[in-house]
Amino acid sequence: MTEKNDLIIRIAGEGGEGIVSTGDFIAAACARAGLEIYTFKTFPAEIKGGYCLYQVRTSAERVYNQGDTFDVFVAYNGEAYELNKHLLTPGTTFVYDGPGGDFEPEIPEGVTAYAIPMSKTAKALGSYRSKNMVALGALSVLFNINETTLIEVLTNKFKPKGEDILEFNLKAFAEGKKLANEHKKTDDFRVADATGTKDVILIAGNEAVGMGAILGRLEFFSAYPLTPATEVAKYVSAQLPKTGGTLIQAEDEIASMAQVLGASYAGKRSMTATSGPGLALMSELIGMSTMAELPALIVDVQRGGPSTGLPTKHEQSDLFLAVHGGHGDSPRIVLSVEDVNDCVNMTVAALNLTEQYQCPVIMLSDGSLAFSTQTIPTPDPDSFEIVERTRWDGEGEYMRYKMTENLISPMADPGTPGGEHVAASLEHTESGAPNFAPEPHEANARKRFNKIKPVIDQWPAAEMDGVEGEADVGIITWGSTIGVAREAVARLVAEGKKVKAMYPKLIYPMPVDQYEAFAATCKQILVPEVNYQGQLSHFIRAETSIKPVPYTICGGLPFTPAQIVNKVKEIS
Ligand code: COA
Repeated sequence: MTEKNDLIIRIAGEGGEGIVSTGDFIAAACARAGLEIYTFKTFPAEIKGGYCLYQVRTSAERVYNQGDTFDVFVAYNGEAYELNKHLLTPGTTFVYDGPGGDFEPEIPEGVTAYAIPMSKTAKALGSYRSKNMVALGALSVLFNINETTLIEVLTNKFKPKGEDILEFNLKAFAEGKKLANEHKKTDDFRVADATGTKDVILIAGNEAVGMGAILGRLEFFSAYPLTPATEVAKYVSAQLPKTGGTLIQAEDEIASMAQVLGASYAGKRSMTATSGPGLALMSELIGMSTMAELPALIVDVQRGGPSTGLPTKHEQSDLFLAVHGGHGDSPRIVLSVEDVNDCVNMTVAALNLTEQYQCPVIMLSDGSLAFSTQTIPTPDPDSFEIVERTRWDGEGEYMRYKMTENLISPMADPGTPGGEHVAASLEHTESGAPNFAPEPHEANARKRFNKIKPVIDQWPAAEMDGVEGEADVGIITWGSTIGVAREAVARLVAEGKKVKAMYPKLIYPMPVDQYEAFAATCKQILVPEVNYQGQLSHFIRAETSIKPVPYTICGGLPFTPAQIVNKVKEIS
């Protein structure tokens, strides 16, 4: 057997065939064995049917992305085979549903193939539903995936659905093992050996945002379910009541944002989660958050757009909307997360920032990260600093929008004696009284922009990567593309290329000096991002003296490290 430290298994077939469950079980079993995990899923908008893909990357060392392609490909149907057969290159292993499946593949030379009659066996057992468990049983034998942990995770999943369901699935699993044992060759890949238990959890991006919200002492959450953001609300709905918080599923995104502002006005740490179309609907109320200086965290899990677009697919195309999607001059803080670990930590940080600066904070995640499960260090609840909003000390006359030295005006929760004030979304004087004269509007516009500038120094400087000193190419990228760039940079540097990278997570206000300093050490700047317009490139051109080379894709899929490696080679 060839132990592969970094093994990628791709499973594909039709939505409804249990592709996601198969991948989840493999990921969970490997994680329990102490291996690092990065998964990638892509599926159609239909509940049943349509091409569905799940890729598990497992390694003894940390992995930052889903990888270039697969080592092992598992095809549940003919469509999956047709779409992936060009990637069956010498050295790969191919496991497919046959004989008795809906296709007869041609096996290219150098490819190790296993025909496992998944459908036929499941039907013979009396439950076509268990086809995926026949496959899983076979995969456990073929690639040394720990059987005990697999049985544990599938029992945890299916037992609550009924003893009969668990039983037929365990039978199917055993049949799959038997079939694989009959055919097994000696030179297959095997996942890396268990490295021992680590203090880690395996969690998906959306759930990690929910976990960060709870760790960040969230008190109120309102959202309208929208793919690919829904699981944030799902996680929070299960956990927030336990900490005394309140969750509302609103009738739409406008209502949810209004409720968030109402709860924030009442003194509660508040947030919502949505995707691009929902963020667009919220834009008027985000303006109110700016004007009324009401803290509010909005998590935008970006998807392919515009409109209902590609609701289940990956894209990074809401940057313009996040930064400038507002009426009037409406500053906000915009952050973007790289990975699942960030989804936890940066949600806590984002809740703190919105409370500290009394402005909307938009945190961008994306469709790939939303569903990607990754192993992350188990968060220690006591390690997070919680920043509260500045509250009025009750001294003197209360002025809601007082021009203080740091431009942050203390807030008085409703009911605070002496803290009565006019609360509105209108322009106002320091007391809060509506006022439409030129002077207060100009002064407050300055206040609203200037009060958030210190976040540039407060936020950790963007991480740098790659060679020290002068580089032929400097990569600047954001969001989950950072993880892809990390691997691309490592490969290029290993080949002797002079490449470096900068990974900003505070998007707005823009840390211009950091961009300029980085670019000063690079002959050219390449900006890979998953949108058509090159949105970060635009901001860089607008706000700095840098003239970046945009590198954009927008096919509903994330970059692969190889794409970035090739692009760097092409331009250098
Ligand atoms: N025996 C019994 N139940 C099984 C099973 C088996 N062998 N294998 C899977 N299942 C169950 C799963 O537990 C899951 O049930 P759950 O939801 O109660 O957990 C269900 O069948 C679906 O299986 P799963 O493996 O999770 O998914 P899949 O690979 O078959 O793919 C989805 C289907 C999830 C991709 C698809 O149903 C979906 O949700 N598409 C997205 C729709 C969407 O978001 N649209 C947005 C429009 S804006």
